[in-house]
Amino acid sequence: MIDLLGNLKRTGYCGDLNKKDVNREVTLLGWVQRRRDLGGLIFIELRDRQGIVQVVFNPELSSGAHEKAQSLRSEYVIAVIGTVAERPKGTANPKLRTGEIEVLAKELKILNVAKTPPFPIEDEAEVAEETRLKYRYLDLRRPGLQRNLILRHQVAKEVRNYFDRLGFLEVETPMLFKSTPEGARDFLVPSRLSPGSFYALPQSPQLLKQILMVSGFDRYFQIVRCFRDEDLRSDRQPEFTQIDVEMSFVTVQDIQRTMEGLMAHIFKEVLGIVLELPFPVLTYDDAMGRYGVDKPDIRFGMELRDVTEPLRGSSFQVFRDTASTKGIIKALNVKGGSSFSRKEIDDITHFVQNFGAKGLISAKVGANGWQSSIQKFITEGERKAVEDALDSRENDLLLFVAGPPKVVNQSLANLRLHLGEKLGLIPKDQYRFVWILDFPLLEYDEAEGRYVAVHHPFTAPQDEDIPNLKDHPELVKAKAYDLVLNGSEIGGGSIRNHLREIQSLLFEKLGMREEEARERFAFLLEALEYGTPPHGGIAFGLDRLVMILSHAESIRDVIAFPKTQKGTCLMSDAPSRVDSKQLDELCIKIKEIKT
Ligand code: AMO
Repeated sequence: MIDLLGNLKRTGYCGDLNKKDVNREVTLLGWVQRRRDLGGLIFIELRDRQGIVQVVFNPELSSGAHEKAQSLRSEYVIAVIGTVAERPKGTANPKLRTGEIEVLAKELKILNVAKTPPFPIEDEAEVAEETRLKYRYLDLRRPGLQRNLILRHQVAKEVRNYFDRLGFLEVETPMLFKSTPEGARDFLVPSRLSPGSFYALPQSPQLLKQILMVSGFDRYFQIVRCFRDEDLRSDRQPEFTQIDVEMSFVTVQDIQRTMEGLMAHIFKEVLGIVLELPFPVLTYDDAMGRYGVDKPDIRFGMELRDVTEPLRGSSFQVFRDTASTKGIIKALNVKGGSSFSRKEIDDITHFVQNFGAKGLISAKVGANGWQSSIQKFITEGERKAVEDALDSRENDLLLFVAGPPKVVNQSLANLRLHLGEKLGLIPKDQYRFVWILDFPLLEYDEAEGRYVAVHHPFTAPQDEDIPNLKDHPELVKAKAYDLVLNGSEIGGGSIRNHLREIQSLLFEKLGMREEEARERFAFLLEALEYGTPPHGGIAFGLDRLVMILSHAESIRDVIAFPKTQKGTCLMSDAPSRVDSKQLDELCIKIKEIKT
């Protein structure tokens, strides 16, 4: 029953056929999406990676093909030879790209049969993600995922075109390497030849690309896999891909302009969208002040305002106590939000409590003051000052959170996004980029009892702040930048420390003794002593970028074989146990595992 492919060649893809092909004889190869047997005629929807076309088997045209077509089932692999024809009047399908035509089959070859798939191969099918990931080969046949991977390929291709044109070289760096400090846990690979020693899979090629600058490859890029053992979220995977870049003899502005050019090129070539350049800039302090996060979604307003000052002396105890204990009071204004019900306000109160806020104070702005539980504590002057700060009008709803800055910012930043979604304020078809500059170089980590690098330990301080590095490291700003697109951090980088003394001082501030720094990064520190040019770079998350371009909701939808939230591959069952011989060769003994 199975036919051989023989020498048969496709003349083109199903999904690419259109009215211009009418009367052409075509050979199509693909999968049966659906079969409808109307007694006399049999209709097949034939699918390949470009789309679907309708094939008609008419016993009068070819009784042999018609008879064979009766045995077709979903996902059979077939070859059809036939003629393209315009569909009879009134039968065109506007939902299908090929909906104006059909193929009148003359010959059918059944190249393979298929078991009934566990879910229909179509985008609309509601299928549990676990099932989709287990049968990833079937899931990947769905048009949405095929489109995403095609888009991903196009983006990668345009990245290479752009950088090639500007004289960048793509240089590969090793996967088996030494730990690089990007703040996550390393994946380790045991060495058989050096028993007891481990390679670390790179969290990024950070150190190696800096070494390439020392070696004189002054414009480097690489589309490169990175590995980080960290808690996963909808936009994080344990292995992901970066567009990694490093340049010598550059300023922050040079890097900004070159990367804006990259984004403009990708958007134009892949989506046909012309971006407005240069991208707007926010300082880290402004972003935290106005949006409560360092990756603000600037597609909509509803900005936060700090109202600690006007409420510092308030007779409302929570406000007064907060202001006197280094806390802050911030608020946002929901325009026209006075129609929110009691229940809606309770819901958003619970929402902010998830981010550590003790509570949420609401005030509906009326013609004669506020309708609020704190109304009687607020003086006329305080009310006026707050209303001015939030630019509020009658019928607005003001929402306040008081507490430690971190909690207030996190709660209100998330509330802003939540309300933006709920109220439909976010224009989904817009792409709004923003650079975040002037990050602090270091932050104090209470848990570790030491300073940690906000970006990474190779980031240079701003020139004017260098004198402060020794005694007031908390005041030092970094030559670091993030690129944010629609509220997602798609890239980040910095100018590096090319001077040995400053790099050493920084390691010291990070609580790393000279010997420890030597042990971990000896090769870099040594290289810095052999004529290192000033340099800097950036890395973009390719998966995240493609996710935004394809409007995917999960990073798993733009990666062919992704991992689950638990870091497993449901298709292959990785990670899995290995046999004891392999472990013996590596001198590894597994401790008893508690489950
Ligand atoms: P950074 O750690 O900011 O910088 O990473 C750069 C970009 O990579 C993406 N990204 C991720 N994407 C998916 N899953 C993950 N687990 C994940 N982690 C990061 C983000 C992020 O903006 N070496 C530096 C770059 C430099 O300084 O040049 C670095 O890796 O989009």
